[in-house]
This record gives sequence, structure tokens and C-alpha cells, in this order.
Amino acid sequence: DQLLAAVYDAALPPLDPAANEPLVIEAIDTTVEVAAGVKLNAWTFDGVVPGKVVRMRQGDALDFTLRNNGAIGHSIDFHAAQIPWDVHYKTIVPGDEISFKWTANFPGVFMYHCGTGPVLEHIGNGMYGAVIVDPAAGFAPAREYVLVQSEFYLKQGSGGAWDGDIGRMAAVQPDFVTFNGAANQYQQQPLVAAPGELIRLYVMNAGPTLFSAFHVIGALFDTVYVEGNPANPLRGIQTWTIPPGGGATFELTIPEAGKYPFVTHSFAYTGLGAVGLIEVK
Ligand code: CU
Ligand code: CU
Repeated sequence: DQLLAAVYDAALPPLDPAANEPLVIEAIDTTVEVAAGVKLNAWTFDGVVPGKVVRMRQGDALDFTLRNNGAIGHSIDFHAAQIPWDVHYKTIVPGDEISFKWTANFPGVFMYHCGTGPVLEHIGNGMYGAVIVDPAAGFAPAREYVLVQSEFYLKQGSGGAWDGDIGRMAAVQPDFVTFNGAANQYQQQPLVAAPGELIRLYVMNAGPTLFSAFHVIGALFDTVYVEGNPANPLRGIQTWTIPPGGGATFELTIPEAGKYPFVTHSFAYTGLGAVGLIEVK
């Protein structure tokens, strides 16, 4: 089998003490590998799909700038923010930038994405990422991973790469459904944990259209925090729905060594790349 050139590192580093420093995100057109040997001419934030994780603490303010180095207009929309769309989420032309400040009032797992129309196409071409807002009181220490589910819709493009296909996006005919932007990548390089270790998965569903039926085969979730907020705990969950544009935080412990696939349990889509492995050893 052909292998991906690189696997997106799902391990989530601890909250950066520099998280209060100004953040610049750049819109960049580049090629990304969405499945082994399959390159997409993508529209990205910072050249990666999904964009970099922004980790903050509840109550923190973020001094933010979007710089547009792409070929067309782009914008950014933070679901974790409570600020006016018409003022801050407006489209800026290539070469321009926009700055604004917002405060993370709610803890959780949130989407950010380009909000320029057609939004379906800007998200479908790769313009999204996750904001993780730690609760003010923090969570217990754990082995932490971030997973962003999203789907890709392709047509033949230029330079041996593929382009996003707005027609297939509108018809919901995905070619790949992925975690962290590449089909089956965590089969190539599984997430790891130890038997009995607390595992915390921050899962965001970027869509643009499919729901995620998030499930780990051979395991149950001790706790699902709806939207990633510790005020919303549910216990003993087998599968949890994450809508496009939503998130959830999953805590589980796996007693026995072995391989445990994580999937979307919507099986028409599972085989398109939405299967990874947690290797417990
Ligand atoms: Cu855009
Ligand atoms: Cu949105």
C-alpha cells in the first residue's frame, strides 16, 4: 500500500504560556495530501489542513490578525467568539489583513473557518481548524489528542493535483472522509496510549456537510462533554453525534492492550478514510 508522506500530529501539547500573545493566521494556497498519493490544490490557513490548533484558557483574550496571501478573497469566523459578523468576519482581498480582539468566554472545542461565500467551497477546499478553550479550572491530566473530521470532494485539477469540486460538495458525494485532513492516516501511524491511562479526545467536525457519529471500537466513553464544556457531562456513551460546525470532548480509559479503531459510525463514509487506530500498549 502507498503511504502518506507525512502524518498530521494529533498529540495536543499543553496550553502554551504564550497563548496570550498576538496570533497571526495567513490564508495560503498550497497543495496538501488528502489520501496517500492524492494531492489537493487547497485553500488553507497557514498552509495546513486542518489549520493549526489554537489553544486558549477560558477568559483569555486573543489579539488576532488574518493576513490574506491567497489568490481570492477570504475571511475568518471563530465559533468561540461573540463578536459581530458584519464587522469582523468580512472578506478581505489578497494582500490585505484584518485585526480584531475577542475573549473566550466558554470552554470547549470550537471551529474556526473561512466564512466567505460560497462557504461550502471555502470549507470544502480546506479552510478550517479547531480552537480548544481550556476550562478556567482545567481538566485532570490526560493523554490528549485533537481530531478534526472533514470530507473532501475532488475533480481533476492542474499539475497532477486535484481541485475541490463544488458540484460534488453540493451533491454531498465525498471522495474522502478524514480525521485531521488525510484518509486513514492513523492506521499508518496510530495514536498511542497505555492500558488504564485517561485518554482525552478533542473532536471537532468541520464538515462541510456530514455529521460525525464518533465511536471507538472496543471501548466506551466514560464521559462525553457536549461541545467540550465540563458543565455538559454525559456518562457511558457508545457513539456521539457531532454536527458540522460542532465539537465534543471524549474521555475514555482502555483497560486492555490492543488496537482500537476510532470511526464515524456512518458506514457509507467510514470506508472513505474515517478510520484511525488507538494502539494501547
Ligand atoms: Cu476562504
Ligand atoms: Cu461557522
